Parts: sequence; structure tokens; C-alpha cells
Amino acid sequence: MTSSAWLERSASSVRSHQSFGNSRQKADLCCKKGKKTNKMSLSAADKKAAGDSWAKMSKPSFQDAGERVFLKLLKKDSTKAMFKKFKDIPRERLAGNAALREHGGKVVQALDDFIKGLDGSGHETVRNVGRIHKAAGMTNDNINLMKPILLELLDEAGCGDAKAAWDKLWNLFMTVHGDGC
Ligand code: HEM
Repeated sequence: MTSSAWLERSASSVRSHQSFGNSRQKADLCCKKGKKTNKMSLSAADKKAAGDSWAKMSKPSFQDAGERVFLKLLKKDSTKAMFKKFKDIPRERLAGNAALREHGGKVVQALDDFIKGLDGSGHETVRNVGRIHKAAGMTNDNINLMKPILLELLDEAGCGDAKAAWDKLWNLFMTVHGDGC
């Protein structure tokens, strides 16, 4: 199944429980609330820095990169407890765990859609992720736990120079993510 197909499937199961209305309308509402500011507009140089660094961070496969992300994210017990499928797995058995790699791969795929679709074509993926998170009871504070993890991986990939671009990238991600709610 393609990433957009499984995301849409998850999101439509969410929509069957709650009425979200038209996502474009919602995005427009968010714009009217003044959430979109210059703070998050990426220049051509920012987009290149984000794309080049992401190419390194997401290697050698999305599941490998996703495993790296989740081994860091789940270090805190309070974060691990948010994931039904991981909370009962002992920490020392997380590395190489198939469910963790699969989930991590989906998260990295969604980020890949976003980063390669900064012209707006990747926004629907992020809005769908926002709907999934809302249905799972996640708050913006929960999702923001991902930012320092990604910045750590950015450093480890030797791309610390791209941090300013990633700050803007993350602001944009969170705004679009909120549009899905
Ligand atoms: C870059 C940031 C993130 C992206 C792109 C992302 C993406 C996703 C995706 C694609 C799913 C659906 C997985 C599936 O269908 O099997 C999902 C589910 C979920 N995410 Fe995230 N996520 C992000 C950050 C986070 C963070 C930081 C948390 C919590 C601290 C979180 C908590 C969850 C939970 C609880 C679920 C439901 C998991 C389940 O039980 O199946 N996510 N996320």
C-alpha cells in the first residue's frame, strides 16, 4: 500500500468517528486565525538545506532511520507510555523490534512526503497525520517532543549548519499538522 493510501485509510477511520469538515476550509480558517507567519516561510536556500540534510538523515532506509528516531524518542518512560504498541516492550528489546521499525518507517515516510512536497503537495499527508494524532489523544506538546530528536539526528548526520532551516521546517510542520484537526 502506498503511504498516502494507508494514511488516508487511517484518517478516514478517524473521520467516521468525528466530523472534521473539508480540510481546505479548515486550513483557510487556520490562516484567518493568523497562524501562518513569516517565521515559517522557507527560502530556496532553506529548502535546499532541509532537503540535502534529510537525504542523509533518512538513509539507508526509512525503517532504519525510523528505528533511530524511535529509539531516541522512547527513551523517556512517559513518552513510551503513549504508544500502546511499545509501552509493554522492555527497553532493551526495542532495538530491531519489527513493530518499532514498521512504525518508524511510516513516520519517516510521512516526513519524506512533507519535505519533498514543501510546495504544498506534501501538506495533505501532514494534515492526515494530524487527524490520526488527534484521534490518538496527542497534543501539540506531545508532538513537539519530536523536534529535539530530529535536531539530534541532524547533528549526527553532520548537518548542524542546517538547524535554522529545520527550525522553520518544524514550525511549518506543526502549523500544517494543526490544520488537519
Ligand atoms: C514528525 C513527527 C511525527 C510524524 C510524521 C508522525 C506520524 C505518524 C503516523 C504516520 C502515524 C500512523 C501510524 C500507523 O498508521 O500505523 C502516527 C501514529 C501515532 N503517533 Fe505519530 N508522528 C509524529 C510524532 C509523534 C510523536 C512525537 C508522538 C508522541 C510523543 C506521536 C504519537 C503517535 C501515536 C500515539 C500514534 C498512534 C499509534 C498507534 O497506536 O497505532 N507521534 N504518527
